[in-house]
Amino acid sequence: MSHVLEVKNIEKYYGNKSNLTKAIDNISFQVEEGEFVGIMGASGSGKTTLLNCISTIDRVTCRTDYN
Ligand SMILES: Nc1ncnc2c1ncn2[C@@H]1O[C@H](COP(=O)(O)OP(=O)(O)O)[C@@H](O)[C@H]1O
Ligand SMILES: [Mg+2]
Repeated sequence: MSHVLEVKNIEKYYGNKSNLTKAIDNISFQVEEGEFVGIMGASGSGKTTLLNCISTIDRVTCRTDYN
């Protein structure tokens, strides 16, 4: 079955070079047609950040963007 969504090695940092917050640490998963997926985690664990990146409301970043 083909994936309807593939998320591969997403990282997201907030802040700047001297004050970086790593919000997403290398997340990958796939969603198949007909699947329902829930994202669970404690407050501040990165759920909203993940969905903002997948939906392109926000932009993924990686560590080297801040070098
Ligand atoms: N706009 C932002 N600027 C800086 N840090 C942020 C911003 N949004 C979220 N964060 C930080 O990123 C981490 C993940 O937050 P968030 O995605 O809102 O988690 P959740 O939705 O799971 O509660 C937290 O450490 C939060 O403080
Ligand atoms: Mg949230």
